[in-house]
Amino acid sequence: MATSDGKAVAESAPKRKITYRKTKARWHPSMQAIPVPGIRRMVNLAAEMDDVIHLSIGQPDLPTPKHVSDAMIDAIQAGQTGYTMDAGLPELLVALRDYYGNRYNRKLSTENILVTSGATEAMYLALSATAAPGRQFLVVDPSFLLYAPLIRMNGGEVKFIPTRAENGHQLDPDDIIKNITMRTFAVVLNSPNNPTGAVYPKSTIEAIVEECAFRGIQVFSDEVYDHLILDDEEYSSVLSCGTDLDHLMCISSFSKTYSMAGLRVGWVISSQGAIKKLRRYHMFTTSVANTPAQFAGVAALQGDQQCVRDMIDIYRERRDLTTDLVNQTPYMTGYKPGGGFFIFPDLPDHVDASDVCLRMLKETGVCTVPGDAFGEHCTNSIRISFSASSEKIQEAFERIIPWMKKQKF
Ligand SMILES: Cc1ncc(COP(=O)(O)O)c(C=O)c1O
Repeated sequence: MATSDGKAVAESAPKRKITYRKTKARWHPSMQAIPVPGIRRMVNLAAEMDDVIHLSIGQPDLPTPKHVSDAMIDAIQAGQTGYTMDAGLPELLVALRDYYGNRYNRKLSTENILVTSGATEAMYLALSATAAPGRQFLVVDPSFLLYAPLIRMNGGEVKFIPTRAENGHQLDPDDIIKNITMRTFAVVLNSPNNPTGAVYPKSTIEAIVEECAFRGIQVFSDEVYDHLILDDEEYSSVLSCGTDLDHLMCISSFSKTYSMAGLRVGWVISSQGAIKKLRRYHMFTTSVANTPAQFAGVAALQGDQQCVRDMIDIYRERRDLTTDLVNQTPYMTGYKPGGGFFIFPDLPDHVDASDVCLRMLKETGVCTVPGDAFGEHCTNSIRISFSASSEKIQEAFERIIPWMKKQKF
């Protein structure tokens, strides 16, 4: 083509039309098993508000004992900032072996222990290395929000075993035993329980562990609150039962006992064969736990335990106060939790606690967590944390009680 003055012009190139495909991100389908955590929903809303009192906290509000944080600082200053052995810092493995061996009068070797990044990693390794299609896991309902999604993500099936506020959320071992079928692969226990604070007596733990050993069923026991026992009773671990370790995995951490949640050190105790397998998996996930924090863990286990007794006294005082205030609150059915730092009262059966918690947060500024974050049978329950000062707890209920009086459920 030419213009009137004879110059050639390039033919205008046809415009290329670029279309962008609106495809969904290609996540693994197992990601569907991860729910939006009920806690996040509440905490995100609370973050936009002023003058909120949090009774929603799932970690200790008390400070880490000084000798423990000093040990971590000393380790960093001494250059202990590299990787440890994959199973954990040898000194920590020895300290854990001795500590558990003495506490439960049980002969353990360091090869029965794997140190992880908190109980969360320990639980992740244990559940995701064993959950598979066709394997059913019996899980107490309500329970810590990690278990069911981890099992389901790996194709396992969850069967919830409900407990109730009217009997202090105690677990009847027969409810577990009568639900064992040919498909049952494992039972997940958590005592003291998050969110209920229920501590299971030795008779419950023993009956379940013995039946599972007899039938070849695995028991995973999350014992992160094992020291926060608020009444005068001895704690029963699965390790205090006489069965061998082949069918047991005991999981715990320093997070709650020594207020070390952010330092991320936990562990699994099981048979040497199971630990060998999990150790390999651990190397392919987080490789090792935080090194200076493992030194802090050694100091925690080997140091004076008065700091733990002092914390328990504080939690007990708050537990008594919270239980009393729950009992004074219209519509709430409480009970006395024996451990941890939560209570999980019921509202009347037909009430949607998720709606109540949201409205209560908006109208009173008190943040709690609705029961549906912890299972399927507790949509009328509320988790109230007493990991807050007595003054804050008192002030929160000065808002909650008159507000509840105005409700018409
Ligand atoms: C029952 C239970 N298990 C495990 C964890 C996680 O513990 P860690 O900080 O050791 O990962 C928590 C934390 O809230 C918990 O409540």
